[in-house]
Amino acid sequence: MSAPHDPRPIGVFDSGIGGLTAVRELFRRLPHESIVYFGDTARLPYGNKSRETVTRFALEISAFLVRRDVKCLVVACASASSHALDELRARFTLPIVGVIEPAARAAVAASPGGRIGVVGTLATVGSGAFPHAVQALAPGAGVRLRACPLFVPLVEEGWLDHPVTRLVAEEYLAELRAAQLESLILGCTHYPLIAPLIGELMGPGVTLVDSGAEAARATVDLLAGRGLLAPVPAPGDGPRHHFYLSDEPRRRSFARVAESFLGRPLPQVTVVDQTDLPWFERPHVSTTRSGEPDA
Ligand code: DGL
Repeated sequence: MSAPHDPRPIGVFDSGIGGLTAVRELFRRLPHESIVYFGDTARLPYGNKSRETVTRFALEISAFLVRRDVKCLVVACASASSHALDELRARFTLPIVGVIEPAARAAVAASPGGRIGVVGTLATVGSGAFPHAVQALAPGAGVRLRACPLFVPLVEEGWLDHPVTRLVAEEYLAELRAAQLESLILGCTHYPLIAPLIGELMGPGVTLVDSGAEAARATVDLLAGRGLLAPVPAPGDGPRHHFYLSDEPRRRSFARVAESFLGRPLPQVTVVDQTDLPWFERPHVSTTRSGEPDA
């Protein structure tokens, strides 16, 4: 008897186009799968927003993708994975893969001495999601964290091998370089593009863990394990991909940056009016700037 198959697409989302690094890996590993991608270009960055806001955005986008009949969800955004996974899993019944647990697993496997570093956005680092996941897998492991907020705009500027990026990286990574790490989790969609620079600074003894690629690998395992892989297409047929963005990119460099993330030219994108996104209630009482609960 042949294994069961599911031709429905995989849903992937990110705060913008950085999640295309995970899609690139899905294309490589699962060439028969159709993908529906949503990049929230109207509302990025997520990396400096609150848990409540990021969770609401993630819920809205997931509902949008679920309406497109995806068979699973890949939360390619590390900031959204850090803040919203539990809430997403509580609201939706389809399988959901985030970047945190797969990357933590790969880092633990690469770090027999338990010396693991994590770089990410302020949201990701502040959430404590990576140390939590590492501790669950390897209770004795030590996790060193560093938020690197300037990396995202530098990558979006295309300054992958630029003296300014090198200077910023030297500053951000100084303490991690001194910590004799065995592995460093690149806990943000954008960082794989500067992995050569980060790898050079960290040295050959430090294994770099690409969180998006690990999520893609976990997606392969999940689909294969549940009999949800797409069937091999008939001759002349093939996967169908749809790319949605919540704002039209204005920058002329957008196509070039998107291509550097995806590893191939970005196909036609559809811009979704934000009012097409289902609105979710804030999951918690909001607070004023002074920290007092709203009246
Ligand atoms: N996609 C985000 C992440 O992986 C980076 C960009 C942002 O801050 O929205 O955390």
